[in-house]
Amino acid sequence: MTQTALIFEVFTLFPEVFEPYLQISILQRARQRGLVEVRLHNIRDWATDRHHITDDEPYGGGGGMVMKPEPIFAAVEATLGAPPKCPLILLTPQGRLFTQAIAGELALGGLERPGEPRRLGLLCGRYEGVDERVRQHLVTDEISIGDYVLTGGELAALVVIDAVTRWIPGVLGDPDGALDDSHASGLLEYPHYTRPPVFRGWKVPEVLLSGDHGRIARWRRRQSLLRTWRRRPDLLEKAQLSDEERELIQKIQRQGLSIEDELV
Ligand code: ADE
Repeated sequence: MTQTALIFEVFTLFPEVFEPYLQISILQRARQRGLVEVRLHNIRDWATDRHHITDDEPYGGGGGMVMKPEPIFAAVEATLGAPPKCPLILLTPQGRLFTQAIAGELALGGLERPGEPRRLGLLCGRYEGVDERVRQHLVTDEISIGDYVLTGGELAALVVIDAVTRWIPGVLGDPDGALDDSHASGLLEYPHYTRPPVFRGWKVPEVLLSGDHGRIARWRRRQSLLRTWRRRPDLLEKAQLSDEERELIQKIQRQGLSIEDELV
């Protein structure tokens, strides 16, 4: 068993939605190998009233319900300490927008205590949101996975767990796997092909069958650039590009080079 690198401490009203996704593929393997651990805490278990109530009407009126502070504080402080000894991230559409770079920071950020696994608290909001005092006095960070509103933070927490886990050394079979991912270099990934070489008359680009690793690497980089320029030109401003690559982009802009031109 390898040393655990990261423990996710998830606070939710619906722990049952996590297991099916955590039990497949890369996440399951990472957990079995002890590289990451996901601990699920049901906030309802920390409600002390007879009916285990976790939400209430908003002060000032209006629709919807608000998550009560007491069970959330109780669950988090019993698990992470009072005050919490690790970051506690609230998943909310009001948070900073989640990116591959933030995933990397959360995966590889500084050790709290050398030799001990790092812990990351994830708090899933539901209903209209959480009582503001949770935000002000318990949560250390707020993350949104996109500019749309989900029914709760659970899917967002799974997205964060997935993207962060991919950064943990040893999780992906290929040590450079995470570096190749779309967005890791600030660019979108190049196109992928597998067998057969011709399918319904559509051919795999000849360069990929050439065995010439230098040519293949250059082709892939150009494809990444072209694809990013076409689909997400906003990313090119921040991407780390060589002078030659910047020139290539300018040439494409001038000539309107089509992606098909570059496939051969
Ligand atoms: N909860 C509801 N919507 C969300 C979003 N877009 N990101 C993170 N958490 C959420």
